[in-house]
Amino acid sequence: MEDINKADLVVIGIGQAYTARPATSGKYSDPSLERSTFKPELIANAAIACSNGRILHVGAEEGLEEVDTSEALIVDAEGRLVTPGLVDCHTHLVFDGSRHDEYAMRCMGSSYPEIATAGGGILSTVRKFREAGEDLLFDSAQARMAAMAFTGTTTVEIKSGYGLSTEEELKALSVIGRLADEEPLRVVPTFMGAHEVPDEYRSDRAGYVDLVVEEMIPAASEQGIARFCDVFCEKGVFDVDESERILRAGIEHGLGAKIHSDEFETLGGTEMAVSMGAVSAEHLTALTDAGLEALASSATTAVLLPGTTLFLGKGDYAPARALLDRGAQVALATDFNPGSSTFLSLPLITTIACSQMGMHPAEALQGVTTNAARAVGLEEEVGRLEAGYAADLVIWDADDYRMIPYAAGHPLVLFVVIEGEIVTFD
Ligand code: NIG
Ligand code: FE
Repeated sequence: MEDINKADLVVIGIGQAYTARPATSGKYSDPSLERSTFKPELIANAAIACSNGRILHVGAEEGLEEVDTSEALIVDAEGRLVTPGLVDCHTHLVFDGSRHDEYAMRCMGSSYPEIATAGGGILSTVRKFREAGEDLLFDSAQARMAAMAFTGTTTVEIKSGYGLSTEEELKALSVIGRLADEEPLRVVPTFMGAHEVPDEYRSDRAGYVDLVVEEMIPAASEQGIARFCDVFCEKGVFDVDESERILRAGIEHGLGAKIHSDEFETLGGTEMAVSMGAVSAEHLTALTDAGLEALASSATTAVLLPGTTLFLGKGDYAPARALLDRGAQVALATDFNPGSSTFLSLPLITTIACSQMGMHPAEALQGVTTNAARAVGLEEEVGRLEAGYAADLVIWDADDYRMIPYAAGHPLVLFVVIEGEIVTFD
């Protein structure tokens, strides 16, 4: 039997540990926290001991006496900030090619839906994806994941959705599965065959929905390679009834429900997803009061993607403040994809969230730790510095958590630890 009190990694000299748990005392030296919906627990002069990939102890350095550190690797943080590893709960990172041509068109005034209608957009990436071999897709995704890890991401959700046929969607999930097996980051696979209607079904949209429901979802579920099912509920893509049918089929096959809703037009997808018990509703830039109320009175996490709003050159950020003030659970993610957001840094997303949506740095950090973990069903596993959680940590070249959004994407990450191992990339 392993000695569970025997640490294999100990981080000492932590100036500030941001545990992502709520503070227990009511006194804060930071007056801005009075208006924040989340008051963080901050531990000064802390130490963290890990064993077999799990956190054993988090607290004042004196508490380490309880732990056997005799054979542990000791890392001295020299007064710096340590947070949980960050969770990117919405990405589309397996694809080939780039859409910088569309970006330039958008800068000159074309809109994302206009470009999509003219044959660009998601379908142009689908054409490239279908030509690409698994190794090429794996290698490019691996490089992006390494870049994400260097900005503090330790868990990443990855959606399929550039294949749009049974064979090609299974190819995407197989690449995502290989990334999960071979890369140090924790990967959450999501099936998103309902990302667009492919060229060959443009005149038979219903036929495509049948294919997703009757063939793709059962195949993805049978192979056990997806945890969630997502759908792009949007005007010109999938309507609310189609989206509901797809999510219901996913649930029947053991896949939790997620939805891209209220991104450009309001269709009612958010309310539908909440009523089905979806784990998350994502984008929400065109959220209505009814959608807001539905989210606030449910366990469905609102995943906001302010990098997408910025990248698309728009100003209609999701109503983060109203969601938080009404008690909704708010997470943040990059939405990393070739068309609408090439941001891969979650710290930079927290900057946009704070500066453009009026979130407090503590609310934004909750959005990329605990609440992002909820949005991928891993809230008992990652996103907190707490005994029993995965030993996923970031040691920052900073001494206060507010530096993360404030530093606006400066490379502050010194070390990333995933499951108790310091991450290195070849
Ligand atoms: O979340 N909104 C739909 N899907 C992606 C965009 C994907 C693409 O443009 O390739 C998104 O923004
Ligand atoms: Fe997306």
